[in-house]
Amino acid sequence: MSVLVNVPTLVSDKVLLREINVPTDAPEWYKHMKDPEIHQWMGDDIPTNVTETRSNLQKYKEIPHIISWAVINNETGKIIGIYWIWKPIENEDGVLIIPSEVERISKQYWRRGFTKEARKLVYRYCFDTLKANEIHAQVWKDNVNSIKSLEHAGHICYKEETKMIERYNSLHVECHFKLTREEWLKSKLMHY
Ligand SMILES: CC(C)(COP(=O)(O)OP(=O)(O)OC[C@H]1O[C@@H](n2cnc3c(N)ncnc32)[C@H](O)[C@@H]1OP(=O)(O)O)[C@@H](O)C(=O)NCCC(=O)NCCS
Repeated sequence: MSVLVNVPTLVSDKVLLREINVPTDAPEWYKHMKDPEIHQWMGDDIPTNVTETRSNLQKYKEIPHIISWAVINNETGKIIGIYWIWKPIENEDGVLIIPSEVERISKQYWRRGFTKEARKLVYRYCFDTLKANEIHAQVWKDNVNSIKSLEHAGHICYKEETKMIERYNSLHVECHFKLTREEWLKSKLMHY
């Protein structure tokens, strides 16, 4: 699919989603990613220096099966988040699925409309441009913020799985969410 070759720029009132620019974004993103709370319910480690952030951002750009964006605050022109989706795959029933998505937004921007606008842009791109039938996401059950944010956009949990989280060395429940275009259009995200 030719639309999958370049990272599209998506824009709304509060945010711009654009291709990650490693030299520009790394120093600023490192400041946000030092916050342990962002990492609480994810498998990754807190970066200890800007070089680590630089190499993580470079990795997100190079992983072939994902599309990754820097989330930019329109007011400051600076990075406040990262959002990525897996490229769509067709299952055996011909359903086009985005198998997973991940977003990390700087804590100072939580519950201020930035994630909602970013999510709305990404989902519009998935459903309208990529013609996906479903968007899937997997979240630890303890990650209340993420679960509420997904449910607000119309996601429904269809499966729970108990898994070992290595960084905590303990078992946690992973919730598998999915969203159809119909549920998205009916969701609170589309009517706020
Ligand atoms: C998950 C995350 C992106 C959510 O960002 P956010 O800006 O707080 O959430 P949203 O703006 O999308 O929330 C949308 C709605 O969901 C509901 N909601 C979100 N968090 C909630 C909470 N803790 N309690 C109750 N309702 C909540 C609200 O209705 C909210 O709308 P409102 O702010 O107008 O009331 C953010 O917490 C984050 O970056 N966490 C760290 C990384 C992470 O865990 N990512 C997800 C796993 S990959």
